Amino acid sequence: MSLVLDAAAQDLLFREARTANTFTDEPVTDEQVQAIYDLVKYGPTAFNQSPLRITLVRSPEARERLVRHMGEGNRPKTAAAPLVAILSADNEFHEELPELFPHAPQVKDAFFSERPVREGAAALNASLQAAYFIVGVRAAGLAAGPMTGVDFEGLRKEFLDDDHTPLMVVNIGRPGPDAWFPRSPRLPYEQVVTTV
Ligand SMILES: Cc1cc2nc3c(=O)[nH]c(=O)nc-3n(C[C@H](O)[C@H](O)[C@H](O)COP(=O)(O)O)c2cc1C
Repeated sequence: MSLVLDAAAQDLLFREARTANTFTDEPVTDEQVQAIYDLVKYGPTAFNQSPLRITLVRSPEARERLVRHMGEGNRPKTAAAPLVAILSADNEFHEELPELFPHAPQVKDAFFSERPVREGAAALNASLQAAYFIVGVRAAGLAAGPMTGVDFEGLRKEFLDDDHTPLMVVNIGRPGPDAWFPRSPRLPYEQVVTTV
């Protein structure tokens, strides 16, 4: 009764949504990814810094190179998923800040002139955006399979550069047969929330 989002949308985004480990052959189109991005780009980040970058791995040759950097247990599903995305944080996001935060363009130099500060901010805010992205995939009626069981240094050298830090690899598609493990329990409210 306290939520205003309708029950079907609650189920689609959270209650019934699962982390998929198998997928059907149905392709995931660029139009679907664009619709997902055009929704989740509105999720908030500090100073609107928006450091998430998304690399879609589409060609069979690139998929093969990606799979080599996945942990053993993640390889078969990453090879078979209709689409795989590498989510990374742009540590040079501050270059875009005058455009993204136009009412206070001085923020770029006042807060983000030092690389270690940028790396911390980029990791936090791109991870937030990665979470929005997973929910956006669900909003498109698709399932996401996020993975951090990855050789990140190898992945960075293979697909990115020194200015980008890979955060996770996400399989995307419609769930296939036996797509998920049994639902694991979640922590109860009382254990998580304290009031002071
Ligand atoms: C950031 C992140 C990293 C994950 N890494 C892996 C992984 O490397 N391999 C894997 O099989 N599952 C991975 N998972 C899947 C989680 O175990 C799964 O989302 C969680 O248990 C909830 O499952 P459910 O959505 O089916 O309830 C990852 C999930 C997230 C969000």
